[in-house]
Amino acid sequence: MAEYELGEVIFSQKEIEDRAAVLGAEISKDYEGKQLILVGILRGAVMWMSEVMKHITGDVEIDFMALSSYGALTKSSGVVKINMDLNCDVTGKDVLIIEDIVDSGTTLTYLKGYLEGRNPSSVKICTLLDKPTGRRTELEADYVGFECPPVFIVGFGLDVNQKYRNLPYITSVVTE
Ligand code: IMP
Ligand code: MG
Repeated sequence: MAEYELGEVIFSQKEIEDRAAVLGAEISKDYEGKQLILVGILRGAVMWMSEVMKHITGDVEIDFMALSSYGALTKSSGVVKINMDLNCDVTGKDVLIIEDIVDSGTTLTYLKGYLEGRNPSSVKICTLLDKPTGRRTELEADYVGFECPPVFIVGFGLDVNQKYRNLPYITSVVTE
């Protein structure tokens, strides 16, 4: 099995939890009186989604989608595939996509367009990490946990080759 060397902690569990509380409160205020549905992107967004949703007050539905734009490698293939679609109808609802990281923006540009085609009231994005240096589209997230450096990140849901998703903090993979 491949082994990876990990760098130092970039964002600690406490920092992430505190940021999730701030964003959760902001989201609660922005969506007051609306029919909010959180769409978590499997598998990377699971930990971040559960963290943020604890701080959302009012009624909220949750659903999940599974997409792939990366293979086992650390570079984007630029191809987006829907491996699992929504179960619920988003017509007239306010969709908030919960994602782990926006890098090139390819995945979310595609997904946003796809969901907008289902007549929701709105589609916005809440991402744990934003890596603006990797961007190859115009996409901007509406709620950003942290801006991250141009390194390959793992932990708090993010993986390299399906490993390290369970780390309760964010670190980098050391590449030479
Ligand atoms: P994008 O389409 O290039 O924006 O890539 C988005 C997806 O690529 C994310 O949902 C992640 O699954 C994956 N990804 C991008 N950068 C990283 C990283 O630094 N670590 C782990 N996964 C990443
Ligand atoms: Mg991934």
